This record gives sequence, C-alpha cells and structure tokens, in this order.
Amino acid sequence: MNLFRTKNIDAMLAVARNDGLKKVLGPLDLVLMGIGAIVGTGIFVLTGTGALTAGPALMLSFVIAALACGLAALCYAEFASAIPVSGSIYTYCYATLGEIVAWMIGWDMLLEYGLATSAVSVGWSGYFQSLLAGFGLGLPTALTAAPGALPGVVTLINLPALLIMLTITALVAHGVRESARFNNVMVIIKISVVLLFIAVGVWHVEPANWRPFAPFGAAGVFSAAALVFFAFIGFDAVTSAAEEVRNPRRDLPIGIIGSLAVCTVLYVAMAAIMTGIVPFQQFAGIDHPVSLALQVAGQKWVAGFVDLGAIVGMTTVILVMTYGQTRIIFAMSRDGLLPRRLSAVHPVHATPHVATWAVGIVFSAIAAFVPLNVLAELINIGTLAAFTLISISVLVLRRTHPELPRAFLCPGVPVVPLLSVAFCLFLMAHLQKMTWIAFLVWLALGLVVYFLYARRHAVLHNDGA
Ligand code: ALA
Repeated sequence: MNLFRTKNIDAMLAVARNDGLKKVLGPLDLVLMGIGAIVGTGIFVLTGTGALTAGPALMLSFVIAALACGLAALCYAEFASAIPVSGSIYTYCYATLGEIVAWMIGWDMLLEYGLATSAVSVGWSGYFQSLLAGFGLGLPTALTAAPGALPGVVTLINLPALLIMLTITALVAHGVRESARFNNVMVIIKISVVLLFIAVGVWHVEPANWRPFAPFGAAGVFSAAALVFFAFIGFDAVTSAAEEVRNPRRDLPIGIIGSLAVCTVLYVAMAAIMTGIVPFQQFAGIDHPVSLALQVAGQKWVAGFVDLGAIVGMTTVILVMTYGQTRIIFAMSRDGLLPRRLSAVHPVHATPHVATWAVGIVFSAIAAFVPLNVLAELINIGTLAAFTLISISVLVLRRTHPELPRAFLCPGVPVVPLLSVAFCLFLMAHLQKMTWIAFLVWLALGLVVYFLYARRHAVLHNDGA
C-alpha cells in the first residue's frame, strides 16, 4: 500500500515526446495565454467588492496578492522548465510528493478550473445581457439565469452562459493552434481596452478620494487581497500547455512570469485610478466597477468600450481555463487515475477531444442550471492550496532530483518557496469559514474517489509499483 509512490521523470518525459499532441506554441503565445487566463472577472467585477473592503488601499491588496502569486510563479517556472509534461501541478506532485498528493491536487484543480469556467461564464452572461440591453434588445427572463438565481423571479436556464461555454469547448476541441490564435487576438483587444481605461482615467483622478487611504486598516487590506487574488488566477494554466510548446524548457518560465508581471502592473494602475475617480463607497452593489469609474468621469463612450473589453476578457479566461482543465484530465487519465477514454487524442485535430467535451458539457450545465453567486472564494482557496504545494514540491525536487536539467532556477531557495507557503497560508486564513467547509468537503470526496477508483486503476499500480 504505497500511497506516496512517485512516477519516474525520465519515463514521463519519454511519454510526453510521443503523445500525439502538436508542438506549435511559442513564447509570445504563452505570455498571451497567461494574460488570457488572468484578466477577466477579477478585475472587471470583483474590484468593486475589493474597494469596499480595503478602501483606496485596494492597490496595496493587489500588490500583496501579486506577491503571493509571484513567489509561487517562480516555483512553477522551475518545475515547468524541469518537467515539461502535461498536467501542471498534478504531474509535478506525482514526480515529487507521491500519488495520493498528486491525485488530491489534481482533484482540487478540477474544482478550481471547472468552477472558474462556470463562474466566469455566468459573469460573461451578465455583461453580455447588459450589452444587448444597450441596443434595446433582451432575452426572455426565463432564459437569463439559472433556476433560483434571482429571488422572486422565475428563471429556467442561463442560456448565454451555456452557449458561450459550448462554443469555447468546440474551439478547444478543434485545435490548439486555432485556440491560441483566437486567444492572441482577443488578448490584444482586452489589453488595449485596459490601456485605454488607464490613459483616459488617469486625467480624472481626484487625489482627495485616496484619503483616508486604508479606512478599514490592515485587516481590510488583507481580506481584499484574499478576494482579488482571484484576479491573478490563471497564469498556472500556462504550464498545462507543456506538451504543445516548441521549446518548453525556455518558454514556459517566460510565459508564466511574463504574463504575471504584465498583469500586476496593469492591475495596480487600474485599482489606483478607479479609487481615485470614484469615492470607494459608491462601489456598493456595483458589478461593473471599471466602467462605472468612467461613467462617473463623464466618459460614457469609453465606458462602453470597457464593457466590451470585459466580455472579451472573460471569453479568454473561459478559453484558457477550459484548455488547462482538459490537459490536467488528459494527464490524470493517461496515468490511469481517471477513465482511459479521457486521454484519447483526436486523429485529425490532435486534441484530447473526449476530455474536452466532457469538461464542456459538465461545466456548461453547471453554469446554466446552478445559481453561482459567491464562488470566487472557493476557487481562491483551491488555487492557494495548489500554490502552497508547488512551493513545497520545488524544495522536494531539489533534494530528490538535484541532477535534473532545469532551464530556470527558482531564486533564493529555500527562502522564496517558504515565503510563498507562508503568504498562501496567510491569505487562506483570511477566507470565510463557509469557504473552508466547502473546500474540505470537496477534498474528502476526492479521498473517497481515490480509494474506490483511482488507486486501483493507476498505471503505477498495475506496473506493480
Ligand atoms: N483571473 C481570472 C479572472 O479574473 C480567473 O477572471
């Protein structure tokens, strides 16, 4: 009963070389992919709540969240350059901490990516409907939200959320090159919109709005950091592309660190400008804080562009998260921990099409029929747990595989990984009790599935490991 059996890294690399996936992505694709997954609901929707929690010190909350991510990103980058194999953190843990840890973190990532795609689709649907309303168009109310999502209103299905997820699924199933091209164009549009916001908004900042700077003290700043952490989630999805990159050892670290760095600068600037234009109390109950700031500044046209940018932004988040999740499922299935059919590769499109459609159908149904109100924290806790583990794993890898070639070395080992663990645990401690309970229930369910199914079907089990 070896729960902590590990996979041989050389064997993994050999499998990855002959997996049937196309190696077509370059460094720019990866940076844009990271930005694609990062800039979305977090900045366009959650910043309002963040501002209410932290006040103008929200910009500091973004810096704290970015630090937690940045430290973890350095650990991710070392792994990605040492073990460029599909499956991201799940694969890294299988090589270092052992099967049961790998399974649990893979299970955790299913929750993170899956719920993120569903929740972001629901956010997308909200923005899309308000765009339609701008043109005087509207859907029948019954089709606008999941049953029970709007108190006192009869709703049957969130049709736009369902349709956007199925469309993205079809794109991801069609091909990685096509998905990356689509993503690149969309990311350029959304970054242009963010830059437009900064360029226009900066002239409307009233420094008086920044005083008092931190009306709710350090506690407010930290709670907001634990929330807006959501806005950074996604750079880790870059690592799931490992087997589809031309030069993964060099380019994956560029993709991870590059996308995070660009987004951090943009976010801090945006938070400063938003709270500089609008007294933070006015963000109460607002789900489009960025465009609100421009409306307050009298820039209605630019506000319209920002709404469009938000829709585009969320589209790419759904795309890259869906993509990331399919590659983790692909890797888990290839290892026998999930049913084997999920790692089938399409003979023409060279994508794991069964895993892709399974993900698309399950999570579009959740987006369409389950009222998803406050999911961001649950996604955050799952991600913070993953970041904690990746940081511990990098220390383990240094001990167990010192000889493994690494194109990128995490600096300051062991201080940087340990600081990363401390930061992540600190942010986790600032999440609500309900979030913790839901997370622990999900993990307990994962353990049951592991012992009933995954353990016995693992390739390593049948190899007699
Ligand atoms: N970072 C992604 C977003 O904010 C999940 O939508």
